[in-house]
Amino acid sequence: MELILDSAIIEEVEDISKWGVLDGVTTNPSLIRKSGRDFEDTIRKIAEICPGPISAEVTSLTANEMIEEGMDLKSRLPKNVIIKIPCTPDGLAATKTLSGRGIPVNVTLVFSVSQALLSAKAGAAYVSPFLGRLDDIGQDGLGLIEEISQVWSAQGIKNCKILAASIRSRRHVEVSARLGAQAATIPYNIFTKLIQHELTDSGLDKFMSDWEAVKSEGRA
Ligand code: G3P
Repeated sequence: MELILDSAIIEEVEDISKWGVLDGVTTNPSLIRKSGRDFEDTIRKIAEICPGPISAEVTSLTANEMIEEGMDLKSRLPKNVIIKIPCTPDGLAATKTLSGRGIPVNVTLVFSVSQALLSAKAGAAYVSPFLGRLDDIGQDGLGLIEEISQVWSAQGIKNCKILAASIRSRRHVEVSARLGAQAATIPYNIFTKLIQHELTDSGLDKFMSDWEAVKSEGRA
């Protein structure tokens, strides 16, 4: 599974990058706003730290403008940047054109199997179902991952990766992996929880104190 950080904060990307397991980063206008920094400068810095894919989202709403903006971003930003496009009729048309020109597209704001299927049909490289936001309105985010995964298997869809997004918990990551999502984009506060377990901490404390005892007995 590709592990992607859902953040536009450089320090967070640097921190997780040190673990050696980070594949990519997703950004969106809200995350750029939260970062308090310049959009393109931020994307360029992230693209230096992380192999990619780094998702940069268009902010146009019509197909022609999204195509123009996507082409422009792709031509000016580093090679590991891909274009993120919202799941709308115009977004599908833009995805079809951009992917036809060899530009990888991540279709975002996906909340149904139909939207995922249409995005794959349009040539998306990634489709991003938003688990947490579905849970927030009393629906089943992980159920959507399961259904999309089943459709992908039934239809033999191989060129479009399911990217579990709007992750709120470690369970979201673990179950998405089990259900066949090929990627997950994870906020920093959840990413850091993935490595934590109280038995790891207490076990390590015990190993360290026992090793101190071995040393004090002159056996190391
Ligand atoms: O990648 C999509 C993600 O940023 C949305 O997450 O927490 O705003 O629902 P959230």
